[in-house]
Amino acid sequence: MVGDGPRHLVLVGLMGAGKTSVGARCAEALGRHFVDTDELVEAAAGNTVSEIFVAEGEGGFRARERIAVADACASPEPLVIACGGGAVVDPQNRAAIRERGAVVWLRGTPQHLAERVGAGAGRPLLDDRAPAETLERLAALRAAAYEAAAHVTIDTDGIGVDEIASRVLQELASCIG
Ligand code: S3P
Repeated sequence: MVGDGPRHLVLVGLMGAGKTSVGARCAEALGRHFVDTDELVEAAAGNTVSEIFVAEGEGGFRARERIAVADACASPEPLVIACGGGAVVDPQNRAAIRERGAVVWLRGTPQHLAERVGAGAGRPLLDDRAPAETLERLAALRAAAYEAAAHVTIDTDGIGVDEIASRVLQELASCIG
């Protein structure tokens, strides 16, 4: 499905898709390090994602996110990488993750994702808005980008983290080395 050699396992999908929790399980199972691009951005900036949105706007955050995606993908060691939900909208990020990674879209319906994110705390695009409606709008806007980024799509509605992680590992056993 994707080229030879150990590739990063890259998880993409909307907020609430379970990228971080599933990614951590997969990393444990594979004996790999796990990185989350939001955490890389926060570590580099010394501020939370919400603080960056306030101080630098979404554009400032996206510029930082692009660097974080590129840095994670450049790691010679194969990693498990969870990408922030909006990262794949950027064609440069899509190219980077597809070049070095086996990319899995954790797809959920906006209703299920909204249940998982709750009030959306710590996620500036959801703050003070109705999460289900915002997620529905983002799902429509971003579906094509997730589709273009992903080698594999896994539907996650009603499935727990362990089961999603084992499906991810099953799908990718042949191509992540
Ligand atoms: C965003 C998703 C968030 C974070 C930021 C923007 C988005 O990451 O990068 O709040 O645009 O969908 P998670 O998907 O890990 O919540």
